[in-house]
Amino acid sequence: MKQAIPLLLSYLILSNAQLAQGQAEADFQYEQAISKVTFGACFNPRMQKPAIFDGILKQDSAVFVFIGDNIYGDTTDMELLKRKWGKLEAVEGFRQLRDSTTLLATWDDHDYGVNDGGKSYAKREESEAIFLDFFKDPQDSPRRQREGVYGSYVFGPAGQRCQIILLDTRYFRDELPHTKAKKKKGTVGWYEPTEDRSKTLLGEAQWAWFEAQLQVPADIRILASSIQVLAQDKGMENWGNVPHEQARLFELIKKHKAHHTFAISGDVHFSELSQRDIDGYSFYDFTSSGMSHTSKGWANCVNPYRVGKAIWEHNAGLIEIDWAAESIQLSAINSNGDKLFTHQLAFAALKVH
Ligand SMILES: [Fe+2]
Repeated sequence: MKQAIPLLLSYLILSNAQLAQGQAEADFQYEQAISKVTFGACFNPRMQKPAIFDGILKQDSAVFVFIGDNIYGDTTDMELLKRKWGKLEAVEGFRQLRDSTTLLATWDDHDYGVNDGGKSYAKREESEAIFLDFFKDPQDSPRRQREGVYGSYVFGPAGQRCQIILLDTRYFRDELPHTKAKKKKGTVGWYEPTEDRSKTLLGEAQWAWFEAQLQVPADIRILASSIQVLAQDKGMENWGNVPHEQARLFELIKKHKAHHTFAISGDVHFSELSQRDIDGYSFYDFTSSGMSHTSKGWANCVNPYRVGKAIWEHNAGLIEIDWAAESIQLSAINSNGDKLFTHQLAFAALKVH
């Protein structure tokens, strides 16, 4: 049966004082419960591989999340950036997806505007406005009232409430030092963890908002991060490059007992599932990338947290929630809609102790 597009009930903006008092609400609230979410990353419209949209459309998911590198803008020329977003608009499969799902989006470096870029990108304000216009954020939406494109979305009633938290890993991020050491086997060797605790990934405003969001009642939380949260040994961009920020993420989930939280990520041009035990809490990071181009070499890099195999066929991510059985199935899908790997997660396995 065709799934109806969830109806937006409301959206609201809370002041910092309200957030500090723990009066947390999701930015956007939808009445309808959802059981299928698809997501994807790394789509270059110029590479003419739009077939992945066929595979995604076959899933008939209620929600699709663009998780970053949704185009390859890579410019400070805002007219050129708009034209590059126009190339995505021109892809029929994208338009069908936009018309048949609730489309959510955050960004990564290439659609933000600069490879591996952070807060020093000179056009971040202008790029944000173009991004929000492209994804049709309402003119008075919370995301237009603040810096960065982060946002939270809650679907469904109590007992079947799914919260999707989109993080912005670009707008506030400090510059990261490049690796000086010789490249190790099984890595790309670009970055290494910083010991400088003044370096931020999310920035304080987003951290305060995120902590409030973890207190919004929800039965499942999907944490969308453009870059990988757990896989940190490849020398690519990931949360492990800023270890104190990664630790803060885990600590907040534990502090607020945000049960049934897991991450989705993109960026690396292949798909893998990672799992790490955080003092008794089993944290999962499901990576799906790329929709138009992939890298076998990067897929072969080391990741001690990997569960199963890495996939470098064009792929998108599929999350199926069985509310009655209290379980979640994570799958990477290809352009035919076939499942390339599947992993079953019981809600109970995602409990915070
Ligand atoms: Fe990226």
